[in-house]
Amino acid sequence: MDAHLLSWLSMSLRWFHLVTGAAWIGASFYFNWLNNNVRPPESADANPGVKGEVWAIHGGAFYRASKFGGAPAALPATLHWFMYEAYFTWITGFLLLITTYWLEAKAMMIDTAVRDLSSGAAVGVAAGALVLGWFVYDGLCRSPLAKQPRVFAALGLVLLVAASFGLFSVMAARAAAMHLGAMIGTIMAANVFFVIIPGQRALVDAMVGNKPLPLEKGAAGALRSLHNNYLTLPALFVMVSNHYPNVWGHALGWLVVPVVCVLGVCIRHGYNLRGQGAPRPFVISWIGAAGLLIVAVATYKAPVSRTASGEAAVTLTQAQMIIAARCMPCHAAEPTQAGFVEPPKGLSLQDPAVIVANREKIGAQVESRAMPLGNLTGMTDEERALLLGWARGE
Ligand code: HEC
Repeated sequence: MDAHLLSWLSMSLRWFHLVTGAAWIGASFYFNWLNNNVRPPESADANPGVKGEVWAIHGGAFYRASKFGGAPAALPATLHWFMYEAYFTWITGFLLLITTYWLEAKAMMIDTAVRDLSSGAAVGVAAGALVLGWFVYDGLCRSPLAKQPRVFAALGLVLLVAASFGLFSVMAARAAAMHLGAMIGTIMAANVFFVIIPGQRALVDAMVGNKPLPLEKGAAGALRSLHNNYLTLPALFVMVSNHYPNVWGHALGWLVVPVVCVLGVCIRHGYNLRGQGAPRPFVISWIGAAGLLIVAVATYKAPVSRTASGEAAVTLTQAQMIIAARCMPCHAAEPTQAGFVEPPKGLSLQDPAVIVANREKIGAQVESRAMPLGNLTGMTDEERALLLGWARGE
């Protein structure tokens, strides 16, 4: 397809993904907030069966939401369901994964320095990881372990790190990080599709048929819903981390990515604790935030020092020569690389002033091996070290 059209298509898909994702996460945050903030009704006019309620003011209007202990005496004429946000977030995300990574496996997923996979094998591993991730998680949720939140969380952490290590040891770092995020997103969407919505259907069907309510299905849905709530921050982190090669491109990227995911869970936990009225709820959130700072400092690399004569170890001219050969096929006003009609991200590296201005970005992309894309221009390790030496020189 024409590169211009393809880029519009990709942009629209990404936009759609963000919109549905915002709607889904917004609903998740809102209902979790409701759960944490319902209090026994203040007045006597509450419906029978109402366990708690929340008064709120928003956009100039007063609202009163009630939460029932079990089910209401009768089904209302209109009952709102929340599922399409989740489904469309997953569908658009999956399409993005296919168009950005799977169809471009050679450029986007395979790093021969990590493993020399064929495109088919890379896609097979990726698809297998998404399916396996769900089955392992779902199995754990159905086991007695699910009743022990601490053990479950600890095991979840170990499995997340293991999955990350597995992905980072077969594919390019950026693809590995994104697939870890896709595993998390798939678990979240599958929770809605396979557990939460069927559970709700069973409750409503029982009410319609005047049968005893399968309350255990409601409880299973509530647990998955809570898990989803905790997974929102990790999923969003992976999305934004895509633009920061120094996060996943670090030698310990396989550890950095899941650790930051867990720090996100800690930050989220503070909000849930506050809702439950725990003393000093945000201590755990601050620990999460401090953890981010520690990871940032721990992964810092000092600039390379100059040679004894005070010269930068690698000169700009040397860097320019490497860039001309290995980067400019794509990053030029008129790229010569097939499939490129304009410089990616508008970054043309023809002008030395632009090269100097983008020194840090170039360093991060080259160090993480994200660039040259799929190493299509065949940059050697020696050239990489030289260019990095220049980019990281003081
Ligand atoms: C085969 C084509 C290709 C080659 C060769 C290539 N790049 Fe890129 N570059 C891209 C694409 C595509 C993107 C956009 C990636 C994305 O979607 O984030 C990009 C993005 C970048 C960015 C990020 C720009 C931004 O504002 O986010 C930098 C920096 C960069 N490349 C540097 C380099 C350097 C340095 C080299 C040579 C060592 C290089 N690239 C070689 C295709 C290429």
